Formats: sequence, C-alpha cells, structure tokens
Amino acid sequence: MSGLNFVIMAAGLGTRMKSSKPKVLHKLGGVPMLERLLQTVQQLQPQCIAVVTGYGADQVQAAMPKADNIHYALQTPQLGTGHAVKQALPLLPDSEGITLILNGDGPLIEASTLQALVKESAGNKLALLTVKLANPHGYGRIIRSPENQVVGIVEEKDATDPQRQIQEVNTGVMAVPTAKLRAWINSLKNENAQQEYYLTDIIAMAVADGVEVCGVVTADEVQVAGVNSPAQLAALERAYQKRLAEKLMEAGVRLADPVRIDIRGELLCERDVEIDVNCVFEGKVSLGEGVTIGAHCVLRNAVVAAGTKIEAFTHMDGQEQGISVGENARIGPFSRLRPGATLAADVHVGNFVEVKNATLAKGAKANHLSYIGDATIGEKSNIGAGTITANYDGVNKYHTTIGAEVRVGSSTVLVAPVTLGDKSGTAAGSAITEDVPAGGLGLGRARQLNKAKWNRPEKS
Ligand code: UD1
Ligand code: MG
Repeated sequence: MSGLNFVIMAAGLGTRMKSSKPKVLHKLGGVPMLERLLQTVQQLQPQCIAVVTGYGADQVQAAMPKADNIHYALQTPQLGTGHAVKQALPLLPDSEGITLILNGDGPLIEASTLQALVKESAGNKLALLTVKLANPHGYGRIIRSPENQVVGIVEEKDATDPQRQIQEVNTGVMAVPTAKLRAWINSLKNENAQQEYYLTDIIAMAVADGVEVCGVVTADEVQVAGVNSPAQLAALERAYQKRLAEKLMEAGVRLADPVRIDIRGELLCERDVEIDVNCVFEGKVSLGEGVTIGAHCVLRNAVVAAGTKIEAFTHMDGQEQGISVGENARIGPFSRLRPGATLAADVHVGNFVEVKNATLAKGAKANHLSYIGDATIGEKSNIGAGTITANYDGVNKYHTTIGAEVRVGSSTVLVAPVTLGDKSGTAAGSAITEDVPAGGLGLGRARQLNKAKWNRPEKS
C-alpha cells in the first residue's frame, strides 16, 4: 500500500530475559518474535518497514528474511521510544501517508487489528490501540477527557496515585499521519522521571495541534502482550498454542489434550485426524484424512497421506528435503525418518528403524532395528530385522537397490553400491558385497560347523 509505513522498535536489550541473545530473536511458535511481526506487517503490503535495532543489531538483521521494503536504522545509545522512532524517520518516504508504530517484543498482533487502526487514522487522525488490564502496573496509562477523548499517556514512573488507578493502558501500537509524526518527534523533550524521549508524549502534542486522537480498545490481551522475561515468553507461547489447538479442533481434529500439543510452524489436517498427547509439529506438516498420530511424536517438514498411522515416539525430521509417507502406511512406534524418506502406500516401518534418503515402494516392510540410507526398495520387499545398508566408506556415499518382493534376511549388511534383483533373497547374517541376481539367494557368511563334542566350560 503506497504511503503506508511501519516502524518496529527493537533496539532494547531486554535485560529481564537474562540472555545474550537480543530479545526479539527469542522464538515464539518456533519463529523469532521479530520475524513473526514482519510476516504480519507484510500482509498489509507496506511501502516501507523501518526496524530500529541497537543491541545485537548485526545479529538481528542477519537473522531476518530479506525484502526490498525492509530497512534498518541503528539506535545507539537508546534514549527512549521517541528517540527510537526518530532514528527511523530518515528511512520513511516523504510522501503523505500513515506510519504504524509497533514494539518489536509484541509478536502476536494480528493484521486485521493493524488494518482497523489504519482505517481509524484515515491519514489525518492518530489512532492508538489500548487495552484494559486487571493489573496495569508498569504500563503507560491512558488519560481521557470528561468527554472520553484520549488526551494523553502518562508513564507509570511519572504517574500520580490517582493516575495509577487507571486500568486502560497503552499497548505501544499506534497509527500516525507521517508528516505530523516527523514534526512531533522532532520536538520531543526528555523532561521526565526516566530522562527518556517518550514516544507517548506525541499524544498530548496531537491534542494541542487539534489532531483527533482515537483510542481503539482491544479486548484481546494476547494480541498486545509484550515479552520481557522468560516467564512472559512461556505464558505467551501457551496462549498462542491454545489458539492453534482451538482452531484445529474447530476444523474437526481430535486432540487428546489441547494443552499438550506444540505447533512451531504450520500444521494442515484433513478430516478425521487424531493426535495423541505431547506431539510437536515443526515447519510445514500436512496430515491426510484419517491419519492418527500416537503420543510423543515429533514431525518436521513432512507430508503424511490418508489412513496412515504414526505410532508413539516416532521422530520424523524432513529438514529442507522433506519426508513423504503414502496412504495406509504404519510407522513406529520408535521409528526415525530423516530427510528424503519417501514411503509409498502400505509401507510398514517399525521400531528402531532409521530411514534416510530412501524410497520404499508400495507394501515394502522394515519392521525392526534397521538402517536404510541411500536406498531404493521395490514393492512388497521385506527387510529382515537388523539389516543395514552400509552406504558410506568414510568418504563417499553409495546407493543400494533392492528390487520387488525381495526377502532380505535378518542382520544382512548390504555393502553399497549393491543391487538385489526382483524376488531375490539374502541369507541371515550375510555381508552382501556383490549383486544378487533376480530370483537368486545371496549367502555371504561362514558356513556353520557343528562339533559333536566340546570342552564345555564348568564352574570351578
Ligand atoms: C512502552 C510505552 C508504554 C506502554 C508499553 C507497552 C513509552 C515511553 N512507553 O513502555 O506507554 O504501555 O511500552 O509495552 O513508549 N525501544 C527501543 N529504543 C529505546 C527504548 C525502547 O527500540 O530507546 C524498544 C524496545 O526494544 C521495545 C519497545 O521499544 O521493543 C518498548 O520499549 P520498553 O522499554 O519496553 O517500553 P516500556 O517502558 O515498556
Ligand atoms: Mg516494555
């Protein structure tokens, strides 16, 4: 939107986080707070987003996604929120328009709320987002006239006792006509208890200039909550997770317990999905119709097709490459799927089986204690317990190709590169270093020798 700008204040150290990481880089729902905020404000397609950084500025900038409309202003030293906005002014386009100001540590503000403020401001008014809190301690209090007009904000440290009784507080979110903002910010003084340049002083300036101030009260404390400490971050994380859980349940997903799920990214579910307790979903995960997820599973960047059962304690981490599991498959308990695991319909992968960069065709099974890496496995082949693909010689990785309906004996070591033809088999305990032809049996172990008599050790 032409003429729409954002200033995001993120220069503060965040002392109470007691962390060497800049506060806005701490994650909420798996995404750094500032990045989450940037995603939200981009929905309004602003002309310019000016991020004010100070503490850990390079680190903050490096961690954020790049975009043509995102610019950074450095604020050192940090002399208050008004001073922070002042550093951003040179980045804002000269055109008439509206600037929305946000705190970098308030990650859950929603685009619709920002849109409502823009509408309220209409380019000639100051729209201020406020909230009524049972415990307003620490916040700037909203001063209203007898006609109920907002006429100023008084910070906790500057407030009189009667002012401290006011429960309506400043959220730090406001939409201001850009030209007016420039003028007001440039005339701020720091004559207050903290000797800081308070952004909040522009409210009284607007009133003095005859610019209307609209106080927009939100009932949603979660959207405007700020994070100052690990306890507040954890509380906001729970509030956020609760919202996601409610949305899933509204869409029909059955959660065994909505307070025991964590979604750190995007979880898409078709009909009749059931999720047991303590599951974590990261990145982008999609679950087809009727998928069930057992307790204590971690799924990251994975697509699971309809009817598949993921049993308890399964770990699936697709990283960048992703994982896909076909229809009516059965995974787990205690399976580990890694990037590039591509499982077709009706595949079974059981306990303590690790699959990496491998394709298992329809109906293939690896039920117990295996490592399958850099491999292709044909339809209906069975991988015996304890089988491993020896894919790595310490320098290079090689591929194992297993045809259809192959029976790999228990504890087979398949030394790649190697191929097992269709309907072939290997004897249990074999080290297979040469290809096995279709229909053949590969034996790669010493022949058993039985001795009729032996010196059986006895206790002395
Ligand atoms: C501010 C508001 C207060 C409001 C509260 C809401 C002022 C003077 N007060 O108070 O009315 O109720 O937020 O949370 O604005 N920052 C900078 N540079 C600075 C100072 C702060 O970038 O020099 C950033 C911080 O990193 C933070 C935000 O501005 O993201 C708010 O700063 P903070 O110190 O938390 O302000 P409060 O005292 O909480
Ligand atoms: Mg604060």
